[in-house]
Amino acid sequence: ARSEHVAGHLLAWYDRHARTLPWRAPPGSPAPDPYRVWLSEVMLQQTTVAAVKDYFAKFTTRWPTVADLAAAEDAEVMAAWAGLGYYARARNLLACARAVAESGGSFPDSEDELRKLPGLGVYTAAAVAAIAFGRRAVVVDANVERVVARLFAIDAPLPGGRTEIRAATDRITPDARAGDFAQAMMDLGATVCTTRNPRCLLCPLSGDCTGYRAGEPERFPVKAPK
Ligand code: ADE
Repeated sequence: ARSEHVAGHLLAWYDRHARTLPWRAPPGSPAPDPYRVWLSEVMLQQTTVAAVKDYFAKFTTRWPTVADLAAAEDAEVMAAWAGLGYYARARNLLACARAVAESGGSFPDSEDELRKLPGLGVYTAAAVAAIAFGRRAVVVDANVERVVARLFAIDAPLPGGRTEIRAATDRITPDARAGDFAQAMMDLGATVCTTRNPRCLLCPLSGDCTGYRAGEPERFPVKAPK
């Protein structure tokens, strides 16, 4: 693929087609509140955008700032989380809110510092650094993985192939608009570069995409046999 054009093509598409989501700032506008970015990214781990919307509204109405959430009772937060599943996420959520509140009330603005907070793994730290702070970070979730595997026709089967997918994502990640780039990749994966029946004719990256040119985008990412 022609890596150097990917970010430009993708961002031009995002400017027209970004999904409007409650935790998101419109393309090109100032970064949204880190608390809202962090909360949404924790909720979105293993849960769909559609399911997260109501929970996000409930949490931000009841606890508008990280200090409000930090001051909540454990049982209230666990009850509000009920239905989202993976309850370890809710426990980490509270632990993280309290850690941030105790260290002055602001989220750290670098990936390395974010990684030290409870519950922030490689993905979440990168997503918050890029989306809330405009930091260049390599943000790879399952949607991004699929887009990049197709773009470069990456043959190495998952899980091992993730190393190559990360390296390729790094090569196409721009210095500017890192948050928009990450979210554009996620939107593209969710709405165009879908697991089945990808809508390649609507894709801003079809001209850059080796998987498409080979006529078999759905073959990627390759999964190791179980
Ligand atoms: N999935 C996880 N984070 C997301 C985001 N910020 N936008 C769209 N989909 C997502």
